[in-house]
Parts: sequence; structure tokens; C-alpha cells
Amino acid sequence: MTVLRTIEECRAWRARAGVLALVPTMGALHAGHLSLVAEAQRHAHQTLVSVFVNPTQFGPREDFNRYPRPIEDDLALCQNAGVDAVFNPAADDMYSAGPRAFIDMPDLTGVLEGKHRPGHFQGVCQVVAKLFNIVQPQVACFGQKDFQQLRVITAMAEALNFPIRIAPCPTLREADGLAMSSRNRFLTTDQRARALSISRALFFAMETFDSGVRVASRLVTIMQRTLLDVGNLGHVPLSIDYVACVDPLTLKPMEQIDGPAVCCIAARVGDTRLIDNVVLGA
Ligand code: PAJ
Repeated sequence: MTVLRTIEECRAWRARAGVLALVPTMGALHAGHLSLVAEAQRHAHQTLVSVFVNPTQFGPREDFNRYPRPIEDDLALCQNAGVDAVFNPAADDMYSAGPRAFIDMPDLTGVLEGKHRPGHFQGVCQVVAKLFNIVQPQVACFGQKDFQQLRVITAMAEALNFPIRIAPCPTLREADGLAMSSRNRFLTTDQRARALSISRALFFAMETFDSGVRVASRLVTIMQRTLLDVGNLGHVPLSIDYVACVDPLTLKPMEQIDGPAVCCIAARVGDTRLIDNVVLGA
């Protein structure tokens, strides 16, 4: 496995590689990321994982500074997974002092994460477009765990004619249902128990949908109740940022679910913000 620390090294390596799949990450890798690597390996001869905690997608009061950066563990995981190259650039190589450029996808970012994290998707699109141009992969893998991100990147690639196939990958979960996330390592045992109500709420919405309910507001109410159920914990489990049932293409809230839909939750447990979703009628 080759470790590439600069854009120049990455371009030189890429020039010698064949059909290539890219897995963009911010590191602190877990089995969810590795499932993207496995998907990448099905699509291409070679796989490159980028590990870069992108400063431009974090808001001023967000967790950029405390975001975990266990690069040696990440490299070992990539090596064991049969990754061909890891691109781990420094921030001042990715962002030199010149004038900045952003990509705006306004039709998709006024809701959900975009609404709660102003500027977040401008930063995500900026870094992903830069990675696409530096790495020039034929395929790039993104997780459904970040549903809006997957939709925004797919639309960006289409709108700007990047010759890159965006491969969606299903959400990997812990045995009890909690969606795997680099931020899970911040949770105390008590907080982890509380975080579990997020996947529980989503599964409950899915069961309710499967039993024939098609009114989105009923699913939203069921999710809110499950999230705020004090249960045997004796205190309110978490604080909700949003609970929504949206169209998977437009991301607009739905009233009657007459096609595919996605239920999305964002909530904070202590200082840790978690997101998760399930697709209905897929
Ligand atoms: P990061 O949070 O590290 O996630 C990297 C990729 O792994 C994303 O496509 C994400 O959706 C996927 N992923 C995370 N948890 C997953 C899980 N439990 N199951 C399946 N896939 C999962 O998302 C980012 O980084 C950044 O925004 C990035 C795209 C790298 C741009 O900086």
C-alpha cells in the first residue's frame, strides 16, 4: 500500500494506476468505511482511500478540533483491507492561500443537514470536487448513512459532468442497530444507550410504514415520541435537531408517501451530534 502525502505524489501515483475507485473519508475508520472499500474493490482494479479532516465543512462551533485523527490505525485498517493507496494530504496543501472556490447546490441544501449546518455542503462539495480532480477516479463510493451528502454529491457529479460513477453503499450498523460513525467513540456508556433511540425510532417508522401507514406526519410523530421516550433511563434521552420524512431525490418533506421516501433523524447526545436514516419502499 502506498501512502501519498501530497497532491503532487497523488497525481503521479494516479497517472500510473488503471481503473480506479475512490473512497473519500475523514479517517477514524470503522467497519462502515471498510464496507465502502469492499464495494470500491468490486468496481475497479485499484482503490484509493482519502483520509482528510476537511476544515471547510465544519461550522465555527462544530467539532473540527476534537474530531479523532488516529492515522496509524487508519493506515493499518486500509492495509489489511487491501487498499492500494491512501491519500492523506496536509490542510495547507489542499487549501493554498489563493482565492477560494465553492460549489453551491442550493436546491438540495436548504433542508435537513444543510439547514442546521450552514455552509456544510459548500465545504463538502468543495473538497469532494477537489478530490475528484486530483484523483480522477472512474468510481467514487459514498454511504447512505449520510443520505443528503450522497444525494448532493450525486447531483453535483451530474450537474457538473464529472465523468465519475457515484456508487451508493448501505449503512452498516452495530449489532444493536446503532449506525456506525466515527463520532460514536465520543459516547459514554450512558450516552450510547440514549443514542440507540435514534435507530429504534427509524425502525419503528419502517415497521409502521410496512404495516400500511402512508401519512408522513404519523411516522414523524412516532419517531419523535420514540426519541423522547424517557423509558427506564429516568431523563430525556437526547435533544432533537430534526425528524423528517422526505423525497429521496428532491429531499422535500412528504405528506402522503406514494413512492420511495427516506426518514431522517439528527439529534444531539451530550456534545455529540448524530445522524441516521432509513429508506422506505426501496
Ligand atoms: P466520513 O464521515 O469519514 O464518511 C466517509 C464515508 O463513509 C461517507 O460516504 C459516509 O457516508 C460513509 N459512512 C460513514 N458511516 C457509515 C456507515 N455506518 N455505513 C456505511 N457508510 C458509512 O462523509 C465524510 O467523511 C466527509 O463528508 C467526506 C465525504 C469525506 C468529505 O470530507
